[in-house]
Amino acid sequence: MKIAIDGPAGAGKSTIARQVAKKLGYTYLDTGAMYRALTYTAIQRDISPSNSSALASVVSQMDLQITSDEETGGNRIFVDGEDITEAIRKPVVSGNVSEVSSHAEVRKVIVDLQKRMAEQGQVVMDGRDIGTVVMPDADWKFFLTASVSERARRRQLELSKNGHEVDLKELERQIQDRDLMDSTRAVSPLRKAEDAIHIDTTHMTIDEVVKLVLNYVQGGKSSVQSTNNHPQRHN
Ligand code: CDP
Repeated sequence: MKIAIDGPAGAGKSTIARQVAKKLGYTYLDTGAMYRALTYTAIQRDISPSNSSALASVVSQMDLQITSDEETGGNRIFVDGEDITEAIRKPVVSGNVSEVSSHAEVRKVIVDLQKRMAEQGQVVMDGRDIGTVVMPDADWKFFLTASVSERARRRQLELSKNGHEVDLKELERQIQDRDLMDSTRAVSPLRKAEDAIHIDTTHMTIDEVVKLVLNYVQGGKSSVQSTNNHPQRHN
């Protein structure tokens, strides 16, 4: 079984995907981390986020390793043997990743890699184009959203835990910029797959969202009524 979880920044995708994968004993793949790893590497090598051919050449040559972190259930990311898991969350990477990931040449290499990983099955992937491009054949597709202010609040908390203090208004602005770039780019923009289930997580706890997703996947759908979410899956 393949599960796709898409949505904008801060909607809770990676937290939910990680926990759902853990509960099911599946592999979790954070596809955003792959674009972040390339962005981080490009910054290190002084390559501009607009230089599509240089980025394409880096991405096809770089030694990218993704492993499972037993402790967190998340991924650990290595480039050329260096563990960059924490470094790729830095604001400078977040500020450049949407431009880096907008290039068709870059996406081709990364999406091919993701498709190969998906072939193994028993996988939960989160990103922007998983239900539409990477795994259009996924058994379950979820599209998570939340209000901009709630997403900024969550991101502030997460950054603060990692020692980065960023102003809430500034984060709202950054999130809106990234939403706009991600959803208007020409190649595989962020959008809900027609057969994805939309979950607005604004007023939901992580546990509630995980339970809801598991209810769908494991066959019982009873909690749908109580969460005011509107299933939009058309089989
Ligand atoms: O964690 P957050 O929601 O902030 O973002 P992420 O999942 O780490 O993804 C970072 C960026 O990578 C996104 O803003 C997109 O520009 C890009 N991305 C993408 O284009 N396609 C994906 N499947 C995943 C991420």
